[in-house]
Amino acid sequence: MEEALAQALGQLEKGQPVAFPTETVYGLGAPAKDAEAVQRVFAYKGRPSDNPLIVHVSDVSMLSEVVSSCGDMARRLMDHFWPSPLTLVLPRHSSIPDVVTAGLETVAVRMPRHDLALALIAKAGPLVAPSANLSGSPSPTTAAHVRADFGGAVMVLDGCACSIGLESTVVALRSDCVQILRPGQVGAQELAAVTGLPVYTPKTKSGETPPSPGMKYRHYAPRARVRWMGEVGPVLPAEVMALVHTRRDLRGENVVELPSLMALAQQLYARFREADTLGCTEVLVEPWRETSGLSEALRNRVEKASQG
Ligand code: TXA
Ligand code: MG
Repeated sequence: MEEALAQALGQLEKGQPVAFPTETVYGLGAPAKDAEAVQRVFAYKGRPSDNPLIVHVSDVSMLSEVVSSCGDMARRLMDHFWPSPLTLVLPRHSSIPDVVTAGLETVAVRMPRHDLALALIAKAGPLVAPSANLSGSPSPTTAAHVRADFGGAVMVLDGCACSIGLESTVVALRSDCVQILRPGQVGAQELAAVTGLPVYTPKTKSGETPPSPGMKYRHYAPRARVRWMGEVGPVLPAEVMALVHTRRDLRGENVVELPSLMALAQQLYARFREADTLGCTEVLVEPWRETSGLSEALRNRVEKASQG
């Protein structure tokens, strides 16, 4: 791995993006202060330039070069949760180029819980890292997914399959509340317990700019149509992939039983990709009752994938 890390650093120093694993999804990394390299990340992904990136740090001491200030509440959240899938939106440091924040006065920052990611960032400095997929396609949770989207054009540090499988929770702090801009595994209840503040998810009306610009795009979607599973079965045709946990009676070539929400989260994007490879026209996801951060995040991704 030392050799691969050294090679990755060499690429980053040349301004060449490198894909690396995190606990959520694989990221496409570039040095946060290298505006040209960051621009290249947007170009590789085909990402709209009005969608800002998350800066990844390996140590809180790096924050002094990323954010201009960090209040007590932000510190408290970092102390409690980091390294973890929690991204905080904070006032931006003047050395962070416009291209990273899409011109916003804030910057999103997180510390991933993955040894290989932390080792890379510790050596390279703060890295921007959007999910390492082509814009619009499902986020990558294995090195093979990254290669499927980018071929040999980017180096991939291979760190096995991601343990969580869904992107981080993105949070903005107000004086009297916490806003969840993108749901992730770190949920509202935990955020409320640690901050003692009310936590809510701002709703945006159509036509309004959402507080987290990325949320306006149709995301995470395979070519197959994604829907919540209603009354179906007991036999499904091969063109229909079904992701189930209680419907053990269902029969069909592409009925996939996933025993827990955690398994569904870990595999959701991989199954979306597989559905397309298999030529499935539809992916049905069995709804669940459980409520948790992960459950809200999953619901959000399934609903995003089913739009459009
Ligand atoms: O789990 C993750 O967060 C992964 C891994 C690789 O770390 N990264 C990721 O990045 O999902 P990306 O670029 O796909 O999503 C970044 C999200 C977008 O919804 C974007 O709009 C939001 O964070 N964001 C970034 N900067 C922001 C800011 N200053 N204010 C509000 N939202 C921001
Ligand atoms: Mg993404």
